[in-house]
Amino acid sequence: MAVRPVVRIGDPKLLQVSAPIKEFDTPELHALITDMFDTMHATDGIGIAAPQIGVNQRIIIFGLEPDPRRPDSEVVPTTVLINPELSILNDERCENWEACLSVPGMRGLVPRYLHLAYKGYDAKGNIIEREAHGFHAIMVQHETDHLDGILYPQRIENMQMFGFEEELRETIIAFYTQQK
Ligand code: NI
Repeated sequence: MAVRPVVRIGDPKLLQVSAPIKEFDTPELHALITDMFDTMHATDGIGIAAPQIGVNQRIIIFGLEPDPRRPDSEVVPTTVLINPELSILNDERCENWEACLSVPGMRGLVPRYLHLAYKGYDAKGNIIEREAHGFHAIMVQHETDHLDGILYPQRIENMQMFGFEEELRETIIAFYTQQK
């Protein structure tokens, strides 16, 4: 089990369409997922996709555990999702300041669907079917995009809303204050 280097924007591996997993519950699959968790935790991430550690296979992990420092933040169950399929439930969208381990230090304002259903498998091949809303739905869209070779900057509609997190701090605070 190992922390692996995170592949960064500019590397062609992040632009590939990843291949579906065909065999579940194998030692290789479990080892890969452990490496994804180790890498995500080491980098303080809340989601990661296999291509981000250089493996072009359709595996994502995500989750947001309760944090006493942020009692208002949403909780998303820690999930391993393999071969995900998303169905958008309606046209309602929202905008959120996204970040990505492969685009370090930067943030961008990205429109996403607010309500969706997703289906996929866990590492043992058990089916997972859920509805997700809000931040949960955003995370699933961001991570699934990685499997199709899409990074969040490609989803930004107004490129003025993209830049280094430090420089954007005031803009981001003002954005979320306005939304309340
Ligand atoms: Ni990402």
